[in-house]
Amino acid sequence: MSKQVGLAAVGAAAPKKILTNFDLEKLVDTNDEWIVTRTGIKERHILEPGEGILGYIVESAQMACERSDFSPKDLDFIISSTLTPDRISPAQAFDVANVLGVENPFCFDVNAACSGLMYGLAIAESLLKTRDISYGLVTAGEQTSRIVDFTDRSSCVLFGDGAAALLVTNDNPAHPILATEIGADPSMAEEVFVGGVTALLNNKLEDYYFRQNGKTVFKFAVNKIKELYETVPKKAGVRPQDIKYFIPHQANIRIIEAAGKEMTEAGTEIITNIDRYGNTSSASIGLALNEAYERFQPGDLILMAGFGAGLSWGSALIQW
Ligand code: ACO
Repeated sequence: MSKQVGLAAVGAAAPKKILTNFDLEKLVDTNDEWIVTRTGIKERHILEPGEGILGYIVESAQMACERSDFSPKDLDFIISSTLTPDRISPAQAFDVANVLGVENPFCFDVNAACSGLMYGLAIAESLLKTRDISYGLVTAGEQTSRIVDFTDRSSCVLFGDGAAALLVTNDNPAHPILATEIGADPSMAEEVFVGGVTALLNNKLEDYYFRQNGKTVFKFAVNKIKELYETVPKKAGVRPQDIKYFIPHQANIRIIEAAGKEMTEAGTEIITNIDRYGNTSSASIGLALNEAYERFQPGDLILMAGFGAGLSWGSALIQW
């Protein structure tokens, strides 16, 4: 019989430093009113100069492990979602494992941009169903403030830094996963991108920084979120209106409101924290899940859905 996989616990952390819209007004030709009405963002957490994201991922992981009284040294694997690791190699997951003191893990990174935590969770579910292992950690750690051009007002106002961790198990999980979904439309790869070693080695920062076709991504995201709200519950044999909480990737409050109109009418509550965090890429769903942690009651159905570069999407339905 297939093993039931689910979450044991969740954790999240973000840098203390806050960058407000008023701070950004001093850097580029923008204003608080534009940013709030067009995106819903008021402020975001960002790293200090020279600081890395690893410490916040470890803090998230420790929070998740402490919440379920589990010793991180016994983890069987770590999957780290990131498009902004402190360094390229070893993969971020090995550094997380090393600092946590994990004794015998396998480790790898996933880069599915803002869908990354959902990709990691879906992969973790498959591994825990098919291999002779029992505990894995899926982390998301992003320093998006390091990939935005702080002279480009159309993108630098959107992002923030943060981390989250999901402890996943097949050992009588507290919060079972009822369905997952991952996918991509690679023909839309040029709609959102960040450069890499080629741009850096050629000293071409303009090719390195985050760029996107905001309007195309906006439409794609609204349609995909609506679709996932229908298809993922169906996979689990429940109805969309049975979903108590919906946690979307926090990219733009207007995307969330446009996609969420019917959900709200059906009685599903949408959880957002974009006003205080901005878009933290793959960490965003984890940060929102962690913030609402104390509100969930046993039995609540919680649907999470992310979208991002690729263009990619990922979703998971869990029962609290
Ligand atoms: N302050 C003031 N004015 C601005 C700013 C700013 N920060 N940014 C843009 N503007 C101006 C533009 O120059 C433009 O002026 P114009 O009309 O004189 O040309 C005007 O505001 C409207 O700009 P638009 O780009 O049309 O604004 P829009 O309403 O489309 O909002 C946004 C832009 C916020 C980027 C939106 O399109 C969006 O959220 N898209 C989806 C983004 C997303 O979800 N990305 C996910 C991928 S992230 C990942 O995968 C890592």
